[in-house]
Amino acid sequence: MGTGAFDVDASAMARRTGTKWSRFGPEVLPAWIAEMDFAVAPVIREALAAQVASSDLGYPPDSNRTGLPERFAARAADRWGWDVDPGRVHLVPNVMTAIHHAIEAFTAPGEGVIVTTPVYPPFLSVVPHAGRQPVWVPLVDGRLDLDGVADALAAGARLLLLCHPHNPTGHVLDEAELATLAHLVAEHEAWVVSDEIHAELTLAPARHRPFATLGPDVAARTVTVTGASKAFNLAGLRCAVTVTGTDEAHTRFGHVAEPTLDTVGALGITATLAAWTPEGDTWLAACLEHLVAQRDHLAHRLADDLPILRWRPPEATYLAWLDCRGLGFAGEPAEQLLAEARVALTPGRDFGPPGAGFARLNFATSRALLDELLDRLRRAHPPIAVSRARRV
Ligand SMILES: Cc1ncc(COP(=O)(O)O)c(C=O)c1O
Repeated sequence: MGTGAFDVDASAMARRTGTKWSRFGPEVLPAWIAEMDFAVAPVIREALAAQVASSDLGYPPDSNRTGLPERFAARAADRWGWDVDPGRVHLVPNVMTAIHHAIEAFTAPGEGVIVTTPVYPPFLSVVPHAGRQPVWVPLVDGRLDLDGVADALAAGARLLLLCHPHNPTGHVLDEAELATLAHLVAEHEAWVVSDEIHAELTLAPARHRPFATLGPDVAARTVTVTGASKAFNLAGLRCAVTVTGTDEAHTRFGHVAEPTLDTVGALGITATLAAWTPEGDTWLAACLEHLVAQRDHLAHRLADDLPILRWRPPEATYLAWLDCRGLGFAGEPAEQLLAEARVALTPGRDFGPPGAGFARLNFATSRALLDELLDRLRRAHPPIAVSRARRV
């Protein structure tokens, strides 16, 4: 696949209707919401085009007749050595709806659900919306606070909401962290909802291990939620999968999720089936190569031009979690940078109180647009330029 596959025509992007490019208008370079600017994989484009061309846009078949549960199970075995029973896969329209239902299915009203902030903003609201009590366990130095999780479980929290890999930090849990979590969950007979939507965006040399592969006890108490929407950039098509580890959990989840099961769109199913093919994988491998190069380029540019912004390069995702506190802004850094640099980042505070002073930058774009964005940040003044001058 030529590198041209990851070029981006900014004027074409500006004509897109999606929220990323339309929210802030033509003067602003958007690097906020988690989606990529690249053309979709050819195999997906062709499958969607063929379906539209044949007006095959009626109700899709029942999920167990789509072939998608089997396709996911084969993929899980191939990629992660994870033995998934297709009979325990549900299709759901999106990740957050499934998480909401899983919380309802496996906890009682008022029970505690552990949320590890800073984290993907809807994690903050889904717990109270489901009528449960959030138990905040902030990350420590960008990693899960395993002692904090242990204390929360000992104090009665019943479910751990895991963002695996983690958004916004891009941290990938290592074997020791996973083993400790697995032990804690088994000890306290707690549930885990493992959001693995970013799993296939794990950047070499990091490796993803599905939480449910940590042993039968853990699998029995884990609901995994994932899909093709992040890695293949299909979020608008609304199609995700859940995996439960026992027939009982599958039925329990299915009962609660009943209103949303089989509401996945026909095009979402088609796109996901096309993504999870050898042709899709070839595209994804090239995409990951580009993202690794973008991440490494960002590292060089930040070190050279914007050393006041502190960060840890992510091991997964195309998101950079930037510590902007050195800029000395009184307010939200993302708002100030939007006004001064005409660059849209996601405000750190959206990810919970520990995100104050941070901003999230999405680097899933072309090299040229990433450079333009960094040039805008560098030129912004004051105080980025002043801060650099002071450093030199
Ligand atoms: C960790 C995480 N979970 C879920 C989602 C959203 O998934 P969906 O749109 O399928 O609810 C995102 C989107 O960025 C995400 O980063």
